[in-house]
Amino acid sequence: MTRDQGTLGRDKQPERIAGMFDAIAPRYDLLNHLLSGGLDLRWRRKAVRSLALRGGELVLDLCTGTADLAIASATAAPGAAAVVGVDFAGEMLRVGQAKLAQRGLAGRIRLVQGDAMRIPLASASVDAATVAFGIRNVERPEAAFADVFRVLRPGGRFSILEFGVPRVPGVRQAYLAYFRHVLPRVGSLISGHASAYAYLPASVGTFPEPAQVMASLAATGFSQVRAASLSLGIVYLYSALKPEQR
Ligand SMILES: C[S@@+](CC[C@H](N)C(=O)[O-])C[C@H]1O[C@@H](n2cnc3c(N)ncnc32)[C@H](O)[C@@H]1O
Repeated sequence: MTRDQGTLGRDKQPERIAGMFDAIAPRYDLLNHLLSGGLDLRWRRKAVRSLALRGGELVLDLCTGTADLAIASATAAPGAAAVVGVDFAGEMLRVGQAKLAQRGLAGRIRLVQGDAMRIPLASASVDAATVAFGIRNVERPEAAFADVFRVLRPGGRFSILEFGVPRVPGVRQAYLAYFRHVLPRVGSLISGHASAYAYLPASVGTFPEPAQVMASLAATGFSQVRAASLSLGIVYLYSALKPEQR
């Protein structure tokens, strides 16, 4: 990674990040499905499965964006009774809200504008929590982990999807070539925002390794912290539990 990419990947000022997602919101879903070859839908289904929902829970989807994971949680069987999606980018939420209206889900999924480090929910008010491809963009991920811990009920599960870099020789090189050279060009062409799709590989390159993410979750107080590699390590599914009170 060049020095410029390192700087780009580390600049997580909330106004800059929110502005960037607002700018790409109209093409975000299309590019997500296109650039992942549709795998993003499968990753989100796995994240929902890892929550082991019994039906009827209230789930928080942090950094919900256009609400795809919120929708997956609400429509899984058995799924959540209700989902609250929180994100600070108003345009991403607007696209999400239109999808909820189209699918008749506006009564079960509530989208709220807010910061992941100061979640606008009461303590111990949700049964489970998720965040997909969002934690990497948060200025202080450990502050978001602490606030998720606060809003979760004891016994609640927390699942995180985040990009990684495959380790298998050959696969790693092919993936990095795609991720660093093809993806930013296609993203820039379709969204018209070159910097947003240059930021994606740069931010993945500067995000902590799975062992560090797990250590940070454990330091917050979560137990049963695990990381599963999906699609040869392109993505990690982290899961953690807020312990029952003694
Ligand atoms: C890559 S998108 C992921 C959206 C969605 N979770 C998905 O799976 O498609 C990242 C989202 O995180 C949001 N985000 C980043 N930092 C945030 C923060 N500190 N508070 C709230 N939202 C944040 C962005 O606005 C953006 O919508």
